[in-house]
Amino acid sequence: MRIEQWLDGVARAAIAEAIGEEAPPVVRPTQDPKHGDYQLNGALPLAKRQKKNPRELATPIAEALLKHEAIASAEVAGPGFVNLRFDDAWLAARLQEMLADHARDGVPAVEKAEKIVVDFSSPNIAKQMHVGHLRSTIIGAAIVAMLRFVGHEVIGDNHIGDWGTQFGLLIVGMRTFGDEKALAASPIEELERVYKLASDRAEGDEDFRNEARAELAKLQSGDTENRAMWETMVAATRESLDVIYDRLGISFDAWLGESAYEAALPGVIDRLIDEKLVREDEGALCVFFNELDAVEDKKLKKQKNPFIVRKKDGAFLYSTTDIATVMHRIREFDADRAVYVVDARQGLHFKQLFEVCRLLGLEIALEHVGFGVVLGPDGKPMRTRDVNNRVITLASLLDESEERAEKLMREETELDEALITELKSVVGLGAVKYADLSSNRTSDYQFDFDKMISFKGNCCPYLQYAHARCLSILRKAGEEDVSKVTGRIVIAEPAERTLALRLMRFGDVVHAAAGGYHPHLICDHVYALARDLSAFYEHCPVLKSEDAVRESRLALTALTARQIARGLGLLGITAPERM
Ligand code: ARG
Repeated sequence: MRIEQWLDGVARAAIAEAIGEEAPPVVRPTQDPKHGDYQLNGALPLAKRQKKNPRELATPIAEALLKHEAIASAEVAGPGFVNLRFDDAWLAARLQEMLADHARDGVPAVEKAEKIVVDFSSPNIAKQMHVGHLRSTIIGAAIVAMLRFVGHEVIGDNHIGDWGTQFGLLIVGMRTFGDEKALAASPIEELERVYKLASDRAEGDEDFRNEARAELAKLQSGDTENRAMWETMVAATRESLDVIYDRLGISFDAWLGESAYEAALPGVIDRLIDEKLVREDEGALCVFFNELDAVEDKKLKKQKNPFIVRKKDGAFLYSTTDIATVMHRIREFDADRAVYVVDARQGLHFKQLFEVCRLLGLEIALEHVGFGVVLGPDGKPMRTRDVNNRVITLASLLDESEERAEKLMREETELDEALITELKSVVGLGAVKYADLSSNRTSDYQFDFDKMISFKGNCCPYLQYAHARCLSILRKAGEEDVSKVTGRIVIAEPAERTLALRLMRFGDVVHAAAGGYHPHLICDHVYALARDLSAFYEHCPVLKSEDAVRESRLALTALTARQIARGLGLLGITAPERM
């Protein structure tokens, strides 16, 4: 269940019963557990409206709430809050339901399921995937998993940059400087090398530039030889991208790059002309938002920079492709919503794109889920080259993370070598993912191996360890399979109660995270849960307790382990059974 949402409903009914009026009952967890579990602030705005004393209004509301079997106490406090405390037996019964719900761990599905396209990762062909794409990949995959889990139908789409002006240079470049063997062995490195040489040459050599332009035109008009070369480059890049995706355990439902929309682009232009949204400016075709009456967004209305959809030489752009992509997502996928997990610096592009789609009357909700840049441990944007000016590839970053995870386990655990080897990628890659996801995505995020690979603080190994510790306790009690623990839960000790309340919040947390595309809310929750678990172990011995108490504590341990694993699972992180 979603306890906060549910309590909100109960509070509404209580307010209606007590005062005969509709009021917005604001419920939220109390800051200090001494005061109760949740606090209701609804009497305050109501009193303002009715010009009454809020404490006087709060009293009958509290009385009405107290009639509910779930509420053990409801006390008026401060200027007119109501502090609520759940009944322990009622709480225990809800946890019991959660324990029995293997499919969803007590998290309800959304009332209205949508069809949602999540556009994520989307690197560019012939270029290294950089840390920005890593962020999009990791955050995007978590968003896909969360939306799917709450019941939406999701299509994860990798909108790779596989079309554009760089291919003219790449084609002449490959003919002039290319090395077929190197292309087969390490395609991206070879394509980057060739691209660099070609663009350097183009700078001082007009013939070379013209040649590149001519090759691009040939490619775009379907020349078989150039087309074949382009296909080789795309296929080679895809293969090396697949290696990274496999390693990260990330997959896509569609892989529709920019080239997939090539044929649709002239039609997009026709439609923009028909709808009178574009005009020519120095030969280029542009949308001028400051000239269109129908534009609603104030910032865009003042925007003098146009949204260019066709260049002077007739070439289409990123913007044109993106309009075609939206149309395709409506027509072919029947999508209700499309979500773009892309660097926040592309904010203006998406603002403009979404406005054009609105002006075209396209019926789809469009959202840009932006994220900040990756900073190095020194607080400056993460370097993409090492001290020897070599590109720091994603693969090398992941390698280092695994090595450090290995070292950490060797130094701080008693695990045997075989297990360390088995776990290093789960721990190393989990750490990279978690570090990225646990900061609010809209802020910049600091990449710091020392902080993310540790058994202390808000980082992944700590949580993976907490999970493994639960399973180890269960195994000692003879419970080999966490999903088969069904004992009766009884809440008696304060630490049990704190843990129980935390577990109860999971439904609200998952919905808030999925609804706002905020995976960090799940991180915060799992971390808080792991800490509550430590306090619980400290105050409430599990294996040394007896009978009903032991049965209940084992059940709480199992429920916690499952929730940590589910939470991490939604983030794309594996929770190992032993650690
Ligand atoms: N390839 C682009 C880049 O690397 C990201 C594409 C994002 N998706 C989109 N539909 N525009 O910047």
